[in-house]
Amino acid sequence: MSKSPARRVSDPRVAIAILAAGKGTRLKSKAPKVLHEVGGKPLLAHVIAAAAQVVPVEDVFAIVGHQASRVQDAVGNTGVRFVIQAEQRGTGHALMAAQEALAGYDVVIVLSGDAPLITSATIEKLRDFHVSNNAAMTVLAAELADPTNYGRVIRKGSKSAEIAAIVEEKSASLEQRRIREINSGIYAFSVKPLYANIDRLESENPHREFYLTDMAKILAKAKQRVLSIAAADASEVLGANTRSELADIDRNLRMSKCQSLMESGVTIFYPETCVIDGDAEIGADTIIEPFVQILGATRVGSDCRIGSYSVIRNSRIGDGVVIRPGCVLEQASVENIAILGPYSHLRSGSHIGEGAHVGNFVETKNVRLGKRSKANHLTYLGDAEIGEAVNVGAGTITCNYDGVHKHKTVIDDGAFIGSDSTLVAPVRVGKRSYVGAASCVTEDVPDDSLAVGRARQILKPGWAKDKRERQAKQKKEESAAK
Ligand code: UD1
Ligand code: CA
Repeated sequence: MSKSPARRVSDPRVAIAILAAGKGTRLKSKAPKVLHEVGGKPLLAHVIAAAAQVVPVEDVFAIVGHQASRVQDAVGNTGVRFVIQAEQRGTGHALMAAQEALAGYDVVIVLSGDAPLITSATIEKLRDFHVSNNAAMTVLAAELADPTNYGRVIRKGSKSAEIAAIVEEKSASLEQRRIREINSGIYAFSVKPLYANIDRLESENPHREFYLTDMAKILAKAKQRVLSIAAADASEVLGANTRSELADIDRNLRMSKCQSLMESGVTIFYPETCVIDGDAEIGADTIIEPFVQILGATRVGSDCRIGSYSVIRNSRIGDGVVIRPGCVLEQASVENIAILGPYSHLRSGSHIGEGAHVGNFVETKNVRLGKRSKANHLTYLGDAEIGEAVNVGAGTITCNYDGVHKHKTVIDDGAFIGSDSTLVAPVRVGKRSYVGAASCVTEDVPDDSLAVGRARQILKPGWAKDKRERQAKQKKEESAAK
């Protein structure tokens, strides 16, 4: 996050208030609207991130109400301050609730917690325009091809820069509904005229709410300047009021993320199918196959190949790593030129060393697999410290859990674990030692040894032939008796 520049004494003191108290009725959700996610992050987190690039985060106020504590828990780590709007009686009422918090500021920029695409550049433009034009209220407006459901901007005259009012869709006349210039729900207000007039808001409207939009008319009538500035990119102001708008915004964010990765040298086949979170980083010449998800704060190096249907969350992948299709990684780290999959499951705390191989249907949890070590087939490795150049045979299982506690397995450098072995932790297999296939290892194996822990084979030569002959004889006797 870029630090905002120091304020000069002559500069107005600017706060940002984010409207985030509403329920989001149209989403039909148990969760509050602003916590619904796009691009892998709650709507509100996007807005806070943009705001905190313009003013110091302690000057950002999130106005919360519906499920306030849940919202506070979700974004509290950003350092924003909270204002409680206990009852949600409209966007104007939300600013009434913030009066005390905003008392020490000259200008407040109002953002909407459900419009996550707003950029810091646009917020700065709005602030600078508002301050240099000495306006009481500046509306960030946009021209939308389909303005349905947005408030419409009514100008004092067709060519006038000044605004007379904003009318909500529900209260608009047929003629007003044809206006394509909409109110983005984002504004700059000068604090003094805002709070000198806010008590004039009324709730005589279809929702019985105090609309912040009515401040345009109130301030204009009070002979204050109400201006507008157009958003450079109309899609920046899109609001997420419905599940389908959420999906549109998510798609928009995902596509621009893919676009910027491709510009930086990442190959993405079929980007429409990939889900890459905004915070993910991917190095040049890495290839992303179709239907890949790269989530959270994942970092992928360069020259990697990420196979289809892999889901990678909060993980660190080195350079030249090959992840074959169908892998799931969660809080894992994978060093350079390692090979995973197809169908490997790396759970939290998995550290895969340089050049190591983890193959199909292998699950790891809280494991260190050393350089060039291999666990290629059908294996569970949990709570294990595995050295370099170890071969873990097919079907090996670390028995790490006794029903109460987890225990550790150590396999030292160069050891060879035969297929279908079970290693009952706590247990250690020493350097260069062998474990015979199908062993159940319950005791430590010293360096350079062989451990075989399985039943001895019984051998009965000719047994199968005898059986066959016995059966044939019996069949013959039965058919003779009929
Ligand atoms: C609002 C504007 C509309 C504009 C649109 C742009 C009003 C009356 N209308 O409509 O002109 O075109 O945004 O997206 O303002 N909120 C509170 N407290 C409340 C009510 C709402 O904090 O009591 C918050 C909501 O959580 C939301 C934001 O304010 O984040 C906007 O509310 P919403 O109900 O989505 O307004 P719109 O109908 O979209
Ligand atoms: Ca909205």
